[in-house]
Amino acid sequence: MIWIVAAVAAIAGFLFGFDEGVIAGALAPLKQDFTITATAEGLMTAAVPLGALVGALAAGYLAGPMGRRGVLLAAAILFVLGALWAALAGGVFSLTMARLVLGLAIGSAAMTAPLYIAECAPAEKRGTLVAAYQLAITLGILGAYFIDDIVIMLTPDDPTDSWRWMFAAGIVPAVALGVGMALLTDTPRWLMQKGRRDEARRVAARLAEVPENDRAVEEELADIEARLVEERRGTGGPSLLSPTVRPALIVAMGLFLLQQLSGINAVIYFAPTVFGLTGFDTHAGAMLATVGIGVVNVAMTVVGMIIIDRIGRRSLLVIGFLGTAVSLAAIAVAASSGSGDLGWVALIGLVVYIAAFAISIGPLPWIMMAEVFPLAVRGPGMGLASVANWGFNALVVFSFPVLLQAVGLSVVFGLFAIVCALGVFFTLRYVPETRGASLEDIEAHLTAGRPFAAFGRA
Ligand code: BGC
Repeated sequence: MIWIVAAVAAIAGFLFGFDEGVIAGALAPLKQDFTITATAEGLMTAAVPLGALVGALAAGYLAGPMGRRGVLLAAAILFVLGALWAALAGGVFSLTMARLVLGLAIGSAAMTAPLYIAECAPAEKRGTLVAAYQLAITLGILGAYFIDDIVIMLTPDDPTDSWRWMFAAGIVPAVALGVGMALLTDTPRWLMQKGRRDEARRVAARLAEVPENDRAVEEELADIEARLVEERRGTGGPSLLSPTVRPALIVAMGLFLLQQLSGINAVIYFAPTVFGLTGFDTHAGAMLATVGIGVVNVAMTVVGMIIIDRIGRRSLLVIGFLGTAVSLAAIAVAASSGSGDLGWVALIGLVVYIAAFAISIGPLPWIMMAEVFPLAVRGPGMGLASVANWGFNALVVFSFPVLLQAVGLSVVFGLFAIVCALGVFFTLRYVPETRGASLEDIEAHLTAGRPFAAFGRA
């Protein structure tokens, strides 16, 4: 049952990756149909992260009153409307508006789906299950590349309007998300928060695949209840910006800052450009290398899923930050020395970089943002963490081409390498070890005011 729940919520991740990746192949045919200025292109690309920023913030506050399921249903409807609008757009302005709507959907789903999964999952499988969400993102990116390629193959002579099919393809997973969520219920934690105890018991039992009167179910509900009672006492729970919650906010926002400033989307969006700069002289060669990056991203995310609840969050983060720092530094050095082997160093370096990212820095911020916040502020907290994700995402994607021109590849990759190295220190100093711990234990430690990074390391 829990795997069905995770699979449905992960469709949201697939849509996230799909709607990010689809523009890569759509840009060329779009430019044949419309005259697009550089600014218009920038705005059209920007519309998704901008919309997502707003969507994440809104969903953070709506996940309480509307419920996790309600937000995901609303996101599914926005995904369908946005995809339809994009497919039928009469010009660049209306396409930009459509992408803004898609961004709203991505942002709200991207924060609610991991929340939904984490609240349904048993503690010992939580990491793997939320990592399935990251796997879905990487599959979405790869799926979009494939759809783009297929559409281009089917319309070799007249690519006019071919981009419409690329955007329209997003309707299929969007409908699947809507139907799936309509059939599922909300999480036991949210139901308890709303005082719907009987429903919460039924859902918890179904998720654990045990009878409703099972002791484990009773214990889980009692645990949730205890947290809720404690939160209602006093001021009605800690506020998001209170000193008690601050360590959680630092971990969640800090990990997303590092994830994005590690340069991941400079690679995901501009891989053909990077390969072109490092000596792949044909576009076909660069594209092939790019698909290779997409495949390694998916494959290593699977490896990450398998080891994440075994190795522990802190060690895995350190491995990821070290791996990305070293591989980026190698490319930076090769690029600055003008080495004749740059092409090979770049290819091997980027494969190692993506692998290190995919087992660790990719999934872990999503997992940990769903773990560290107390229930009372979990929605808004995850909303703010997602804002960090989208804000820094937009920053990197916009500044990369400009920086590349101004200071060159070696300096830019050198900067990304430094950020990754700093990630090691950040992890050791701020990140708690949440592997296998129940969300209620994590919360009890945090709200008792004990040093957060000491959690789970007894
Ligand atoms: C990041 C995205 C990125 C993707 C790549 C996600 O965890 O948040 O920005 O494009 O990983 O796989």
